[in-house]
Amino acid sequence: MALWGGRFKSQLDESAKNFNDSFPFDQRLYRQDITGSIAHTKMLAKQNIITQSEGDLIVKTLEDILFNIENGNIDFNTDAEDIHSFVEALLIEKIGDIGKKLHTGRSRNDQVALDMKLYVRDNIDTMLHTLDSLLMTIDDIIEVNKNTYMPGFTHMQKAQPITLSHYIASYREMFKRDYSRLIDTKKRLNECPLGSAALAGTVYNLDREYVARELGFDKATENSLDSVSDRDYLIEYLFDLSIIMMHLSRLSEEIIIFNTDDYRYITISDKFSTGSSIMPQKKNPDMAELIRGKVGRVYGSLVSMLTTMKALPLAYNKDMQEDKEVSFDAMDNAIHSVELMNGMLKNIEWNKENMEEACLSGFINATDVADYLVKKGVAFRDAHHMVGELILICEEKNLSLNDLDIGTYNKICGNVVSDDIYEEISLETCVKNRKTKGAPGAM
Ligand code: ARG
Repeated sequence: MALWGGRFKSQLDESAKNFNDSFPFDQRLYRQDITGSIAHTKMLAKQNIITQSEGDLIVKTLEDILFNIENGNIDFNTDAEDIHSFVEALLIEKIGDIGKKLHTGRSRNDQVALDMKLYVRDNIDTMLHTLDSLLMTIDDIIEVNKNTYMPGFTHMQKAQPITLSHYIASYREMFKRDYSRLIDTKKRLNECPLGSAALAGTVYNLDREYVARELGFDKATENSLDSVSDRDYLIEYLFDLSIIMMHLSRLSEEIIIFNTDDYRYITISDKFSTGSSIMPQKKNPDMAELIRGKVGRVYGSLVSMLTTMKALPLAYNKDMQEDKEVSFDAMDNAIHSVELMNGMLKNIEWNKENMEEACLSGFINATDVADYLVKKGVAFRDAHHMVGELILICEEKNLSLNDLDIGTYNKICGNVVSDDIYEEISLETCVKNRKTKGAPGAM
């Protein structure tokens, strides 16, 4: 039976019921819903709105229900409208009339606002933990690869040599920013909406700050209308997840490129690759591709929520029930993507010889030749031009700048070049000399 059956003469049309019910997808909120109800009940008893013994019985029964759900003893195969009616019906089934007092001074509007906040807060904690593991894996790669050389790229063209540590440390910065963004979101969401009731608060003498403290919030929310209509924190979180996914997609893209037969900078472990049904030689980077692909649905959920909330009049409207499926999907997929990236990175083989060999072509030390000439008194703009000419010669003769003889250097550069140039433009020196803060030589 619906919670609100009193003023209705006929049952809800079946298709309308199916359209309206959120239980199929909000049942995952059971823990948050029961935890919120326990705090609410304790407060009702403390304020003498219900008796202490009624409160004790409700709390104990709710704890039993939670325990039984967690142990798989409760049948979820019911026609409940949503998780809130489901839990309340179970309570009333067990303790009868006393259970009917739980919903005193509360509406499903503030209840669902609370449940979603608690769920997002828990999910942020899971994401923080998952990001932490990824950062630890990245730290391990940084630690042992300070002398592993690889080309740095601009426009996907070899640009200047860097180290693997320097490369992967750039992702550390991105994921650190993601981490701190989550902390901000969590801080801002941490106000408790319960006790705002349907929209205008309630006539009962609730202690909202007590409930807030019980549930680990910093305080109770300030305005009851806003409390039941606010999904800002969810939109913020979806934005945080979108940026995390964007970062993962950039790393995935590079993993895919570096894993190609043309690059071979890395080998993705068999544990994180799949094969082709027709081409026996294939080992595909599916996990990286899937992470890259899932970015679309996480961005989609952000845009979906922004659109659902756009121009929505105050306070609660049923449109807001649409917050759940897209957000849960985004949260599940984002956490899964970070976990998989972590697993893939942990098991990647970095083909150091190939990366180093790649640094020997593509005139990756051209800037260093120009910088050498500057040290010998040539103005940088002239030096740049001279090195351009040297590269034309190299290209004609199929040489690298390291192979060019001193005679040719001096013909183009006005006799300022001596033997020390070869040491100065070696891979090791090129990296070592880049010591500005944030550069590979400073690591
Ligand atoms: N299932 C609803 C939701 O997820 C719960 C709130 C229902 N409130 C209401 N006034 N119908 O949004």
